[in-house]
Amino acid sequence: MIGQELIQKLESIHNQTDSWIIKSPGRINIIGEHTDYNYGFCLPAAIELAVFMGLSPSNKFQINAWDRKESWNIVDTIRPDWAVYFKAILNYALKENLPVKTFSLDFTASLPSGAGLSSSSSITCGFLYALNLMNSWNIPLEQLTSIAVTAEKESGVEGGMMDQISIFNGSKDHALLIDCLDWSFKKIPILLANYQWTIVDTKVKHKLIDSDYNNRSRLCKKIANKCANYFGIEENLRIVYEQYSKEEFGFLEAQEKNLLSYVIEENDRVKAMTKSILSQDISSIGSLLFSGHEGLRNKYQVSCPELDFLIDFAAKSSAAIGARMMGGGFGGSSLHLIKENCTEEFTQEISQAYRSKFGFAPDVYKADISNGVELINKK
Ligand code: GLA
Repeated sequence: MIGQELIQKLESIHNQTDSWIIKSPGRINIIGEHTDYNYGFCLPAAIELAVFMGLSPSNKFQINAWDRKESWNIVDTIRPDWAVYFKAILNYALKENLPVKTFSLDFTASLPSGAGLSSSSSITCGFLYALNLMNSWNIPLEQLTSIAVTAEKESGVEGGMMDQISIFNGSKDHALLIDCLDWSFKKIPILLANYQWTIVDTKVKHKLIDSDYNNRSRLCKKIANKCANYFGIEENLRIVYEQYSKEEFGFLEAQEKNLLSYVIEENDRVKAMTKSILSQDISSIGSLLFSGHEGLRNKYQVSCPELDFLIDFAAKSSAAIGARMMGGGFGGSSLHLIKENCTEEFTQEISQAYRSKFGFAPDVYKADISNGVELINKK
């Protein structure tokens, strides 16, 4: 409902001819973490929590962030931190000589920012989608995805493409099984009768740009390079993963072996998870979630005490089937699969326990699986 209210508020302001209202979702990732930039597999889904944008023709370029009560006129050199995502897209349009009608834009969100649910990609993809419509660029979704990926890299994060593919192509009640080598995907029905996907936001805010995320991505490139030299193959962890077994990596250093073994195991987990979801094998889904978290905590080392606490709590709760940290790590959210008739009780218990441990409560959300970015209204 909150999304509907935000849409109505935007519609009351953006009500002139050639006004556009866009909804751009966040995403969860069922499994396949830190595999996208390693050319592996992942299984994300777009969610109802979203960024909403209203655009109308205007005599000056102005962007207003309602939730922050901040504005940016695009000629201002002093920019709020969120402006970087808008600027990256405007730079693309400038570079490609694409026409851009002068607009005034307001955005607001039901999607929390900094919660590991891809709010930055949601802004980037939503804005690009809006400009594509408003200015009749007619760029197809596939190309929009790659423009958004490049734009976000320019803003400092050496991320993959999982977020952008799921935001552009999400499908209600489906996850996307993405092959990150060629960016192709299959829709996998994700509704599990009597179980609810649930997000717990640690409220420990992290920024990928400031975190160790880039460091992991660079280390993986280094591993791919070492393997390429050692085995005489192309520099690509996917080839390593498909052609060699764990026993053959004696030449790597201890940390490198851990990272590589995590990536290999996580790719296998994505395939196993897809089968388990399709066959509704709930107990196997639960074990895969927990083992994914173990890998991220111990081998890939991108978890943090708050996330570990939430997963350990879930492991002891009879309401939870499985849980793991989600996204880049170092804070953000965890994903839990909860028995549907226990969600309220679980929410209360985990919130209380977390508050006693860390002094503040987490935010808990139902992860309703939605369509990708959409045009809600055009005047
Ligand atoms: C962030 C990045 C994604 C992906 C995840 C980790 O969300 O934006 O591309 O790498 O971290 O799986």
